[in-house]
This record gives sequence, C-alpha cells and structure tokens, in this order.
Amino acid sequence: MCGIVGYIGHRNASEILIEGLLRLEYRGYDSAGIAVSHEGGINVRKKAGRVKEMASLVERMPVPGSLGIGHTRWATHGETTDVNSHPHTGGNGDVVLVHNGVVENHARLREQLQQKGYIFHSQTDTEVVAHLISHELAEQIKLESAPDDPRICFRAVEAALKQLKGTYGLAVLFRDWPDMLIAARVGSPLVVGVGEDEYFIASDASPLAGHTNEVVYLADHQLVILTRDGMELLHRDLGQQAPSIQTLAPEATASDLGEFEHYMLKEIFEQPTSVQNAMRGRLDLDEATAMFGGLNLTPQQLRRVDRIVLTACGTSWHAGLVGEYLLEEFARIPTEVEYASELRYRNPPLTETTMVFAITQSGETADTLAAMRECRRKGHPTLAICNVVGSTIAREADGGIYLHAGPEIGVASTKAFTSQVTVLTLLALYLGRMRHLSWPAGKRIIEQLQAIPGKIEQALKCNEQVRAVAERFRDNQNFLYLGRLYNFPVALEGALKLKEISYAHAEGYPAAEMKHGPIALVDENTPSVFLVPRGSIYSKVVSNLEEIRARRGPVIAIACEGDHRLDKLADEVIYVPEVEEYLQPLVTSIPLQLLAYHIAVLRGCNVDRPRNLAKSVTVE
Ligand code: G6P
Repeated sequence: MCGIVGYIGHRNASEILIEGLLRLEYRGYDSAGIAVSHEGGINVRKKAGRVKEMASLVERMPVPGSLGIGHTRWATHGETTDVNSHPHTGGNGDVVLVHNGVVENHARLREQLQQKGYIFHSQTDTEVVAHLISHELAEQIKLESAPDDPRICFRAVEAALKQLKGTYGLAVLFRDWPDMLIAARVGSPLVVGVGEDEYFIASDASPLAGHTNEVVYLADHQLVILTRDGMELLHRDLGQQAPSIQTLAPEATASDLGEFEHYMLKEIFEQPTSVQNAMRGRLDLDEATAMFGGLNLTPQQLRRVDRIVLTACGTSWHAGLVGEYLLEEFARIPTEVEYASELRYRNPPLTETTMVFAITQSGETADTLAAMRECRRKGHPTLAICNVVGSTIAREADGGIYLHAGPEIGVASTKAFTSQVTVLTLLALYLGRMRHLSWPAGKRIIEQLQAIPGKIEQALKCNEQVRAVAERFRDNQNFLYLGRLYNFPVALEGALKLKEISYAHAEGYPAAEMKHGPIALVDENTPSVFLVPRGSIYSKVVSNLEEIRARRGPVIAIACEGDHRLDKLADEVIYVPEVEEYLQPLVTSIPLQLLAYHIAVLRGCNVDRPRNLAKSVTVE
C-alpha cells in the first residue's frame, strides 16, 4: 500500500528512484512522483497515473541531483489527482516528503496548522506531516544557537512524529541541508540499502536489486539519518542503536518477467517449483514426519497445544481454511480460521495452550500484524507462515515457517496460496505425528506430497483448454464457484481470483449450501464452476451439479482425468490429475487461477495491476 524509495549518493537519483518505483508498483499505482535535491532547491515531479507516466514527465523535465525520494501511491485520503500525489511539500518548500501509512489525527493537526497560517494544497493526510515538520524545524531554528547544525532536522522530525497518531513510513528531504535524508517508520515497512558511499531507502528490498544486497530493516519507532558519509540509527525510546546489517539472498529481489506476458501467469507456472521449495529439507522420511527449523517451540510445548487459531486476510485466509481441514484431520487439534481484521478487535477466549499462526505472503498486512500483536500481547505463542524474509510479521513473530516461494509480484496471489497450503500440510503432518498419526500414515502423506510438483506440472497442461473456456464465458457478468470439503476453500479462492482481476462478480460457496440462497441466481447467463474431483463425496457433488443443470445453469467442471461421466453433465470439463483428497487444493486451484487470468486478459483488464487493489495492504 504505497511504495516509497530514497537515494543518497553520487549517482543520478532520478533514474534510481524511477527504477525502484517500477519495482514497487505492486504496492499501489494510482499516482507517482519524485523529488530531487539540487543546487539549493528541491525539484518535484509528480503525476496521477502509473510510474511510467511520471517517468515520461521526468524525461521531458529532468531533475538532476544525487539525493532524492519517490513514491507510488494507493490513495487513502483524497482522490487520485496530480496535487494529491506525493511527494508533498511543507512550509515554504523547506521540507519535502513521501509517506506510506495513515495519519489518523490529520484533521485536527490540519486545523491547528491552518490556524498558524500554513496553506494546504492537497486533501492528503501526508501534507499535514510535511507542514508539521516544517513548523517544528522553524521552532528548532529559533531555539538553536547554531542554526546550521544538521541535528535540528532530526529534532524537528522527532518533535513532529510525537504528535502523529497512526502509521507511517516516511522519507524526508530538507532544502537547506542537501546532504541528508531522514527516514522513519511506525507500522509501515522500510528497508535501508547500504552501498559504497551511497544509501537507499525502500518499502521492501526489491528496488535494491542490482545495487546492493546489504540491508538494514527498520523496526517501529526507529529513525535513520542518512548522509553520503554514513548512517545513524536512532530509536524513539532507546536512543542511538548500532544498525544490524543483513545480507539478502539473491532470490529475494529477483523479479524478471522472463518469457511470460504477465507476472501472474509466470507465477502460476512457477508453482511446481515453488511448492517443491516449500517442502525442500522439511520431509523426514525416516520418522515419517515434517521438520521445521524456526518454530522455536519445544516438542513438549507443541504437544500441549490443544487449539490452533489461524489468522489472515484475502487469499491467505483461504489457505487457512484448507489448513483448518488438514490440522483437524491429521492432528485432531480443534482449529479456527479468523479474519485478522476481526480478530484484532474481537476478544475470543484463547486458553494458555492455544497456538496462533498468522498466514501472510507479504508479512506486512496491517490487520494481520495487528491481530498477531494482540495475541502476542496476551502471551500466546504466535508464529508466522510467511513468504517475505525480513518482513515485519516474520521479524515480530515468535517463530515461523517461510514459504520460500520467491517474490510474488502479481497483485492476485497464486503461488503463495499453493505454498501456504503445502506448508500447512507439513504442519498438520508434523503435529499429527506427535499425536495420533501412525508411521505408515505419515509415510503415505509424504509420498503423496513428493508427487505433487509433478501433478501440478500436469495440471498446468490445461492452459490452452482453459483459454478456450475463457473465450466462451468471457462476457458473463456473474459466476458461482462451488466445491465441498477441501474444495470449498478452493471455490472461495477461485471466485476471489476472478473478481480481483476481471471485475466479474463471482461468489464461492459450499456446493450443497447453494440450495439455501445462491441457487436463486442460477440462470442460463450464470455459469457455475464446479469442483468435482473424485473423492469421498464425489456422488454428492455430482448431485449438486445436477441441481444446477436442472435450472439451465451452464457448468464448467473441474474433474479428475478419465472421469468421462462428467462429459455429459457439464458444458465444459477441465481435467486435473487425481490426487488424495487432502491434496486436491494444490491441483484444483490451478485451472481456476488460469480461468481468472484468461478471462481478465480477454476482457482487456490489467491483470498484474487490477484497479483499486494493492499487493500489500499496510493500512487498516
Ligand atoms: C491483498 C492482496 C491479496 C492478499 C491479501 C493478504 O488484498 O491483494 O492478494 O491475499 O492482501 O495479503 P498477505 O500478504 O497478508 O498474504
């Protein structure tokens, strides 16, 4: 949700900033802008629209200089206009900044600043911060015997931050101190890239690719002062701190599109590998169980767990639903799946032996972070199932499991979902083997899991067929997605994919439950996507399918290879390889991802950057 970048060094800042913003565009793409300090002034270029539109403005009106900041916006306060785009300027132009987050008390601060004579140009909460820092800077200058001392900038930022309620990742330039960039965070991620005589600031590590792999992740209430000669790290309560520099793995920033037209398609096709990576080194064939390095709980503590709460948002929440079925089936541990946005304010009774897992691709989702913090505050061991290494949730959790899926750039999550389901399967196996699951049963699960990357590879062969199905249904405006047991969460996820990227309305439902409402929607213009692989309740699902057919609803069936009974019952049948029921989500989700993708492409939608959405939702 908004991406910010900053650069201080000896190279042309605008090129580095624009390149960085292009990599952060998945975080928001309503408008973009940069500000570069040069010869006693700060030049701002900003524009509603995508980064490349702003970049062509910079091409027409270049901004020289080697110190600058940039922003790509997901609008929260104020419409998508040039004026509301970041960077924002405070006072008489002495402070220019970019912001990611939400300032909750902006209205009151705005009034106070207006009373002091500050003139506002935008409707954003960010402009309030710019004026506030400028105001505090003027106050510091009045107090200071040596008004050129760069520390007054830091004191001004510190004084302003104390007045803010809400979340922020900020990068600030000062017109009269052209060798300094200050960045600070509460609730919104920030990474400092450490180069040779140069530093970078970014919302995540992706803009650092090709520049440096040495990073410092800022924690909440930390502030960093960057000059060309060095960095100084300060904490609001703890004062000066030594930065802990970490080295990024090369895959953490790899984001090439390769031969694919869109990131989403690339990521769909990466799934045989990403699922394999989620299992790598985690299968213990001798003990017929899974192994995890980072749970940070003893087997005794884990054995005492008698309830699990999985909390997440969006696609990760759907993976959690699959996890609930797996954990209850294999480990017999009562499991609940909570929307993080609800859990953070609810007060469910959690006992001492409840274990909480936050499931998140980005590790930055504001609601998931808040829910996790609330559970930790109450003393529950709270672990993360997370993809982005070094993200806030990964760092704050008591322990966790990384997905190792590599960067997911497409806003609609695909490979993260199958990796989350894989990790949850391993977790259920592990906890199950500590309890009721026998050695042969564990061994069988492992063997089935090992075959899954190959099965996904096979499932991907339906791509061309799915494209033809998409042609047929591209103009339909309403879809139902129906499945039962392990395929119910898949139905929810399939419907979400279609909504997100093609803007068609789609509703996911348990296939039998549709009789209690959604069946009223069925007509010849409302296709139902039916998940009907062979399994324990196959014939029940087929009966549900017949109920739709009886009402002349078109049916697209996802079925097991060789199940030709469905040829007569469905308008289209997409075949996937047969796997054990508990592993079906890993293969049945593949055609649904492809169906959403192709319908969206045929409808001319921007698949990787769907309207109104952002990859990483760092506001509440
Ligand atoms: C956003 C994304 C979704 C994602 C959800 C949760 O809405 O567009 O694709 O599933 O956030 O994100 P997380 O990073 O916590 O998994």
